[in-house]
Amino acid sequence: MTAPVLEVSDLRVRLRTPRGPADVVNGLSYTVGPGETVAVVGESGSGKSVSVLALLGLLPARVATVSGRALLQGEDLLTMKPERLRQVRGPGAGMVFQDPMTSLNPVLTIGRQLIEGIRAHGDVDKAAARRRAADLLGEVGLPDPERALDRYPHELSGGMRQRVVIAIALSNSPALLIADEATTALDVTVQAQIIDLVEKLQAERGTGVIWITHDLGVVAGIADRVLVMYGGRCVEDGTVDDVLERPAHPYTRGLLGALPDLAEPVDGVVPDLATVPGTPPPPTDLPKGCVFWPRCPVRGDARCEHEQPPLAVIGSAAATLPHRAATWCTEGPEGGRAG
Ligand SMILES: Nc1ncnc2c1ncn2[C@@H]1O[C@H](COP(=O)(O)OP(=O)(O)O)[C@@H](O)[C@H]1O
Ligand code: SF4
Ligand SMILES: [Mg+2]
Repeated sequence: MTAPVLEVSDLRVRLRTPRGPADVVNGLSYTVGPGETVAVVGESGSGKSVSVLALLGLLPARVATVSGRALLQGEDLLTMKPERLRQVRGPGAGMVFQDPMTSLNPVLTIGRQLIEGIRAHGDVDKAAARRRAADLLGEVGLPDPERALDRYPHELSGGMRQRVVIAIALSNSPALLIADEATTALDVTVQAQIIDLVEKLQAERGTGVIWITHDLGVVAGIADRVLVMYGGRCVEDGTVDDVLERPAHPYTRGLLGALPDLAEPVDGVVPDLATVPGTPPPPTDLPKGCVFWPRCPVRGDARCEHEQPPLAVIGSAAATLPHRAATWCTEGPEGGRAG
């Protein structure tokens, strides 16, 4: 079996907040294989962003305590020296956030930022790097790429800036690409164009991708595997077919509840996650037992309230990519009686 690009084990993040310590990520373990796309879904506040920021050392040490292990091509990101981590970001791991301004330098032209990135990680002269930069901007759908190279971030619209950030991330051909709601603000055509580019990069370079999104149409289209987060935990994961077609956790079923048919978007519009009644628990005060207990429509006896269900394999344990869920109700998608 090929070695994973990323191997996360028991990742935990505690943040210091005015309301006391917040357990935002609570024992997350998963792998991303070469060329594989893992979609991470869950309501706002489930710890998706914090979990990936922690991987790249982007949480301020004075507020965040991070533990666990995160091997990127065998090297632990969580114990890496800051200098090494800076080298790794880019060619090792690229990240695209929802807000492009967090990744662009406002005082440098787009061209300079893109060309510097291309030259820093490869042996190319300035003219060739400029051509490559213009090509990349064209590939992410920026009109008039040559002119865009000489412009500053504030001279572009939000959507254009986001495409620049994506071009910068792709320019390094990273081993791991993390996209955190990266295409959410872009229109469907541009989004499709960017997904095509990412898939091309994956085929050429074997890039592993973590794609955080609330857009289930995108998940169905690009993910090999899906990881459902709730209360800083993985409550369900498995192949895209297992999770979307045979969801086992009541929370996943809730998120998918309002979906008519994933394969057939209505009027070209793909659905988002459904609304689950109630709100997620604050990370400063997580339930002791099952994290979904207070909102679970099929919760059972005292066990749900007091004992935390482990993430256990359901279905065939022999499957290469097992389907796992953290719930005491282990019946199939149609079932749901808690034990
Ligand atoms: N800098 C911070 N200080 C305190 N709490 C934070 C900070 N960043 C995120 N949180 C809290 O951590 C939890 C998870 O946030 P986040 O990872 O952004 O969720 P998601 O990306 O799934 O929407 C939320 O409860 C959020 O309020
Ligand atoms: S363990 Fe109990 S409360 Fe939690 S999801 Fe399963 S049935 Fe619901
Ligand atoms: Mg987020």
